[in-house]
Amino acid sequence: MSEVLLDVRGIDAWYGRARILDDVSLEVRRGEVVVLLGRNGAGKSTTIKAIMGLVSRGGTGRIEFLGRRIDGLAPFRIARLGLGYVPEDRRVFTGLTVRENLEVGRQAPRPGLPEWTWDELAALFPNLAQMPDRLAGRMSGGEQQMLTIARTLMGNPACILLDEPSEGVAPVVVDQMVAAVDRLKAAGVSILLSEQNLHFARRVADRAYIIEKGRMRYSGTIEQLEADADAREQYLAV
Ligand SMILES: Nc1ncnc2c1ncn2[C@@H]1O[C@H](COP(=O)(O)OP(=O)(O)OP(=O)(O)O)[C@@H](O)[C@H]1O
Ligand SMILES: [Mg+2]
Repeated sequence: MSEVLLDVRGIDAWYGRARILDDVSLEVRRGEVVVLLGRNGAGKSTTIKAIMGLVSRGGTGRIEFLGRRIDGLAPFRIARLGLGYVPEDRRVFTGLTVRENLEVGRQAPRPGLPEWTWDELAALFPNLAQMPDRLAGRMSGGEQQMLTIARTLMGNPACILLDEPSEGVAPVVVDQMVAAVDRLKAAGVSILLSEQNLHFARRVADRAYIIEKGRMRYSGTIEQLEADADAREQYLAV
């Protein structure tokens, strides 16, 4: 098995006095696409935000990325180490063009990692390639979602955290997202994505975790989860 890139061990997370995550652990290995599944409000976004240092963790547990501890680091430092984050609310700069949005995300190249050029991003997201000068505020939700991912890639990450990439986008965009995730994986970028249902996840992911009420309930390959009707019924059925 390949090296563990992102190692999350026993973390909690709090919003004020409300404990949202309880002893959550997960790992992402080099080259893997891992999905974090769970119903509405289960704690998927909070897990991703906790990894990025965006929510209070109460000092428990530890998080390692590329063999170094990142819990306690400021979010921008974590991003600079090569951990990209695409939040669930797409945050494009609406007054900037596609190309300008991408420039904003540019970071120094990182040894051993693909350096994304406009041509490579254009191959990854063909629809963005057709509108380099379009204002982001005039794009559809799905196009904005693609642009947010592309902008994150401009930071040359080793791993990206994708929060519900298929949520609220048209089926045709979901297909493009599947193709993009496959090509990212082929380019050596590891991915942790969150999803509410299995439909998108089963098309892209190697392994799955399921979180419920802030606790990790399930871990297995996608094939194991497909074969486990009880787990799906218990943790994912709505
Ligand atoms: N800023 C906040 N303040 C207080 N509680 C919050 C806050 N954000 C989320 N929560 C609570 O934390 C819990 C987990 O929320 P989270 O957003 O992580 O869920 P999720 O699995 O991402 O759900 P969804 O599928 O709807 O995106 C929920 O009970 C939610 O109400
Ligand atoms: Mg969420």
